[in-house]
Amino acid sequence: MKKRSPGSENASHPNTPSGQILPPFLGALAVNAQSTPPIWLMRQAGRYLPEYREVRAKAGSFLDLCYTPEMATEVTLQPIRRFGFDAAIVFSDILVVPHALGQHVEFLEGEGPKLQPVTNAKELSKLSGKDAGKRFDLVYEAIDRIVASLGGQTPLIGFCGAPWTVASYMVGGGGSPDQRAAKLLAYRDPQAFKALLDLLVETSSSYLIGQIRAGVRALQIFDSWAGSLADNDFASFTIEPTAEIVRRVKAAHPGVPIIGFPRGSSASFERYAAETGVDALGCDTAAPLDLMSSMQARLPVQGNLDPLLLLAGGDAMERRVQAILSRLSPKPFVFNLGHGILPETPLENVERLIHLVRAVG
Ligand code: CP3
Repeated sequence: MKKRSPGSENASHPNTPSGQILPPFLGALAVNAQSTPPIWLMRQAGRYLPEYREVRAKAGSFLDLCYTPEMATEVTLQPIRRFGFDAAIVFSDILVVPHALGQHVEFLEGEGPKLQPVTNAKELSKLSGKDAGKRFDLVYEAIDRIVASLGGQTPLIGFCGAPWTVASYMVGGGGSPDQRAAKLLAYRDPQAFKALLDLLVETSSSYLIGQIRAGVRALQIFDSWAGSLADNDFASFTIEPTAEIVRRVKAAHPGVPIIGFPRGSSASFERYAAETGVDALGCDTAAPLDLMSSMQARLPVQGNLDPLLLLAGGDAMERRVQAILSRLSPKPFVFNLGHGILPETPLENVERLIHLVRAVG
């Protein structure tokens, strides 16, 4: 596989000798004001697109889709072709990491992910990062193909789940409203839980570095369940492991921006931004616009339209989109949803949203 020069976007930073203009998404992450904010949507490749459903039906299992580079490439490109978003995101899932560690993972139609739960130190000791690299190769191959098809103008985002969120699926055997299984393991056997977080830090860091070497130009760390933690646990389970991943990735590739998305944690934004070292802050729907605006003094922000408002469309959506734009743009800001796009979302609402955002500036 051809290796691209990592962190090469630095060479095209407007403040560097080459003086080239960055694509708007990377420009916003490099803290340059953008007259028109860049836009992409979390889960932009997915079931709301008829062309995705077609490929998905042919793929067999969801993991087969993730691990077949031709198909993963096709579904990554679909929303770019249809809507011209300012960034593409690699089609994969945060749960490929536990899968690569040897845990049984499957995605059941209409039920979400199911994993063979890891509930104690003995089960944990069976997991190993030894063969993980080989399994990630298929994702890297997809990245290589996607980057070749995108050309230089649309940057590709790589990602992983934050250790706390991934651990909550690994210990619980799937999603849960209160992450009870992971919390109970953390409270009853802190050493075993710490060992799990450490394994995830190690594996996720090398996975992200591998994605950069394959060609992604920005990263996002999804901490979808960060919002359920008490402040001391937020420090130990969300901030510390995320900070360690950021340190490791930055040590290898300092020029690649990292967006942290600690969903449901706006009360801890200051601390998260200061202590993890992420370059930009992904904000969920409940994050107040005033807070997002004040965070922009420190770093670029991304978010936070309610996915249900995009589904509903109409005047309510338009009013809120204008409120977001007038509060957060033109300071460094990436327009996005506060969580993933919903499968029932009408395509014309997505078109309308992009039209509204692109009308700015
Ligand atoms: O954003 C993108 O377009 C890139 C692909 C992507 C997927 N999942 C594809 C996917 C990304 C970035 C994710 C992240 C992810 N996966 C998160 C973090 C963000 C969040 O939503 O909180 C989490 C928690 C997961 C775990 C996961 N994967 C769940 C809970 C589910 C089931 C829910 C659902 O929507 O079905 C998945 C499956 C999944 N991952 C689908 C897609 C397109 C749908 C499966 C299908 O098409 O059959």
